[in-house]
Amino acid sequence: MSAFEYQNNELFVEQVAVNRIAEAVGTPCYVYSRTALEQQWQAFDQAFGDHPHLVCYAVKANSNLAVLNVLAKLGAGFDIVSQGELERVLRAGGDPAKVVFSGVGKLREEMLRALEVGVYCFNVESEAELEILNEVAGQAGKVAAISLRVNPDVDAQTHPYISTGLKENKFGIDIDRAVAVFERAAQLPNIKVSGIDCHIGSQLTTVTPFMDAMDRLLERIDQLAAQGIHIDHVDIGGGLGVRYRDEQPPAPSEYVSALLKKLGDRKLKILMEPGRAIAANAGILVTEVLLLKSTEVKNFVVVDAAMNDLIRPSLYSAWQDIIPVTPRAGQGSACDIVGPVCETGDFLGKDRELCVEPGDRLAVCSAGAYGFVMSSNYNTRNRVAEVMADGNQFHIIRRRETYDDQFALESLVP
Ligand code: LLP
Repeated sequence: MSAFEYQNNELFVEQVAVNRIAEAVGTPCYVYSRTALEQQWQAFDQAFGDHPHLVCYAVKANSNLAVLNVLAKLGAGFDIVSQGELERVLRAGGDPAKVVFSGVGKLREEMLRALEVGVYCFNVESEAELEILNEVAGQAGKVAAISLRVNPDVDAQTHPYISTGLKENKFGIDIDRAVAVFERAAQLPNIKVSGIDCHIGSQLTTVTPFMDAMDRLLERIDQLAAQGIHIDHVDIGGGLGVRYRDEQPPAPSEYVSALLKKLGDRKLKILMEPGRAIAANAGILVTEVLLLKSTEVKNFVVVDAAMNDLIRPSLYSAWQDIIPVTPRAGQGSACDIVGPVCETGDFLGKDRELCVEPGDRLAVCSAGAYGFVMSSNYNTRNRVAEVMADGNQFHIIRRRETYDDQFALESLVP
């Protein structure tokens, strides 16, 4: 069951009317469901049964401290890509020993901080990074546990901007170089080889590309074992898709059982880094209709949310459902839902059948992942409030910015 359902012709999040939240905090605002977040994380975690595993939520998908805290309380691990994300995990009560540190360009000071707090491992993305990490760990008198992120060269069949496992992408180490790089890693005094990982792309809607990638990783693992280099874990990355419109991605349980089957009787711990699959359908963006505008060829619904608040439609031509918070009776007409930002690309949806009047509220669905985190202050718009519903209560988990917040970091020249 979705956490967002209509009750008496009014949209609810859990047991809270979305209108009640909008009246209290204003619009636009992001609204998340604690229950939906928890259920999705648990769906992954429980699918493994007693097989050793660690589900590391990809912080980049939605990094609000309250979101991280809710997951940390369930015992979640975290996939981070910056010190900023690490500091968020720590602030939210996450366990650093369950953190994997990904990213193609980690800074020395970021490595140092991660060593200091004791992350589970670094997902190393290049030979150069391996050498730097060895040096930094040596200077700090530590040994860094690492996994090598290999690029398995499989086609994730997703949008080119979010496809990462092809030879031409910047991510990971060429799979054909992997064994040589592991050999090098095994010789470095301040490095401990722990795993192998990949991340082939995002919003994947079948298990096939994951299985292809897993085959390639397992081949390398077997080859390494024959050379006496033993790996404890395999990390398949994130990327499981969600339903935005009519996609039918596999359920976490189906995906995980396919992975376990592939593993056979190898005694490897499995890690994964789902972001979108945990957060996307746990959130909506609530916006208010400012006015209606029609030209000879188009009907526009101008709303108070814009591309700076939710950039996915503009950036990836992503389709996210847009539904009325309180539906009106009557025939809808095709319209574009656009924001106040001065860009033609500023739209949340195109050609949607909607029956709305100024003052009505709309919900942009599936906005819990890559929504607020990708927002900006473009056009000097304050970033919006975030709210988490929990049963029949709701909590403001990030207040709306003020202009003073925005200006506080700037100064005039004398
Ligand atoms: N692990 C690594 C190393 C990643 O690069 C990513 C996402 C994930 C895990 C989580 O992937 P997920 O399970 O969320 O698919 N802004 C884009 C998505 C970019 C994903 C980048 N990497 C969007 O809005 O569609």
